[in-house]
Amino acid sequence: MKIAVLSDIHSNFGALQSVLEHMENLPDTDKPEEVWFLGDLWGRGPDALEICEWFEKSASDSSFRWVIGNHDLGVLHSLTPAQLELVKDEEVKKTWERDRNKLGTLPEETRSKQTILLDQPPVQIFETETIKYIFTHHVAADSDFTAAYHFPWKEVLLTRAIQFLVETEKKDRGLVNIYGHTHIANLASATCNGDIHLNVERIIPEQKYPLDPGKVWLINPGSVGSPRDRDSRAGYMVLDPHDRTVIFYRVPYDRKEFFRRMLEGGMTPDLAGKIVNADWPHDVPPDWQEHFRRTRMDK
Ligand SMILES: [Fe+2]
Repeated sequence: MKIAVLSDIHSNFGALQSVLEHMENLPDTDKPEEVWFLGDLWGRGPDALEICEWFEKSASDSSFRWVIGNHDLGVLHSLTPAQLELVKDEEVKKTWERDRNKLGTLPEETRSKQTILLDQPPVQIFETETIKYIFTHHVAADSDFTAAYHFPWKEVLLTRAIQFLVETEKKDRGLVNIYGHTHIANLASATCNGDIHLNVERIIPEQKYPLDPGKVWLINPGSVGSPRDRDSRAGYMVLDPHDRTVIFYRVPYDRKEFFRRMLEGGMTPDLAGKIVNADWPHDVPPDWQEHFRRTRMDK
């Protein structure tokens, strides 16, 4: 059984469609039977209604599981005033308002279905004899809405998140926390014999990575609709929980059309440009910049 892990779609329906088509066209031996979504359906892009329709259809199928993201909470008005106060990016709040207004135009029956989003626990678990897989939006170690960004180069943060898993879970098998939120693919692991020895892979798309059940892992599939490694292709991952492997994929989509519709929806060219060009965070170290330049294919 294989699971497609999708995260952070951010109202980008073109990117989602390209990912779904890519999954359909995988060889039978690699084709996922289930889809697990790690949160952030909405915010940023212009396609709130199309994404809502896809989500509602998917959520009625038992092969689809999900957790909720911080942007979904923002759009659905489920943040406390104190939490909202912590969101400093006014442009992001505007896209929440815009998506909320769009969802508000749906018939009452459809709108009530959106509450199924909120009914999910923030964690989904899948267990095999050798590995426990923990699916979350931000890392399991962070319980608060203002979770830190566990980018691959943040070794101190990654080590702390692994420490949390080691301390809170039974050590009778491997532990894998699959998370979204950062919009950058990650494959970090550690052996824990007293001290934690962290190893972070520089991911090459379409390469199969084995998961050693003797280790603790932090894995991020990247973002479908708003990547942040200057490679604008949509990102997702296929996990084989029983064979213990993951493959990361990047899929091109019509980003010019996406950019055009973001402007049409009233977004500033500056922000729309940053999103469509997959602008990276300000603190990417030079060696990671070099890695991202080497692996991007959308030049
Ligand atoms: Fe996100």
